[in-house]
Amino acid sequence: MLKMPGDLGAISMTEISRDSINNQTREAWNNTAKIWDEKMGDEGNDFHQILIRPTIERLLQLKSGQRILDIGCGNGLTTRRLASLGAKTLGIDFASEMINNARKRTRENQELIEYQILDATDETALLKLGENSFDAAVSAMALMDMAEIEPLFRALKKLIRCGGCFIFAVMHPCFNSMHTSLAAELIEQENKIYTEYFVKVKAYLQPSKIPGLALENQPQPHIYFHRPLHFLLNVAFKAGFVLDGLEEPAFPPEFATKNIGISWSKFSKIPPVIVARLRVL
Ligand SMILES: C[S@@+](CC[C@H](N)C(=O)[O-])C[C@H]1O[C@@H](n2cnc3c(N)ncnc32)[C@H](O)[C@@H]1O
Repeated sequence: MLKMPGDLGAISMTEISRDSINNQTREAWNNTAKIWDEKMGDEGNDFHQILIRPTIERLLQLKSGQRILDIGCGNGLTTRRLASLGAKTLGIDFASEMINNARKRTRENQELIEYQILDATDETALLKLGENSFDAAVSAMALMDMAEIEPLFRALKKLIRCGGCFIFAVMHPCFNSMHTSLAAELIEQENKIYTEYFVKVKAYLQPSKIPGLALENQPQPHIYFHRPLHFLLNVAFKAGFVLDGLEEPAFPPEFATKNIGISWSKFSKIPPVIVARLRVL
């Protein structure tokens, strides 16, 4: 993640209207859709393949024939993958360009996959998908891009059948946010020099929003909505969910030499992602 100048953190939702922030976010994702699709392709990047996908699947324990909602589906990586495992999937995203790309990439299991342009901050629109009509919902790396998450959690509690779950993966708010950065230091010990990698955390506790780039060549920054864990989980608890699974995946040590320079692949002891399973009882 690359940070942009202009911390919007101190600006509250009442000062800039929800609609205008949401529209700005949608426009940014529509403009980013082409390079996002090129970068993710059919299978996704290392983050997706090593950290996100296996963790979501472990927590989901999918059974063939189940109906799954994929929220903020982007170019449909997770929607297609779950269909390939036998699920009936509906991928939703508010960026029409993302949905266009998802449809173009859906060459197999077409009978199992649907996409819809839908704003996940719009509770009424979400509820039109049908109460108790999903066995589970997933969201891969999208909640931190959403201007508001309370309407989504309230709606999901009704959309998911009793006993089902909502699994979300987000950038770990403690270690991987617009308030953190990766750093390295040369250490000399017993006549040997080695590099020690660490994460600088400048802030955590306050929810905030800052424009940033998910990809280096992204044409327009989008807004990251930083939510500390207590904030994120309390939204879920208030909506009536119970937390019954939590993983903090990190890259395995053998990835340390994969990239030159500082990158998350060097941090096998610090998780850049957190994945939670919330249950509807
Ligand atoms: C970082 S991308 C992740 C895409 C996909 N889940 C993946 O793992 O490749 C975040 C996605 O969330 C979508 N998004 C952000 N806010 C949204 C909202 N309010 N409603 C629906 N989708 C939203 C964006 O359009 C974008 O496609």
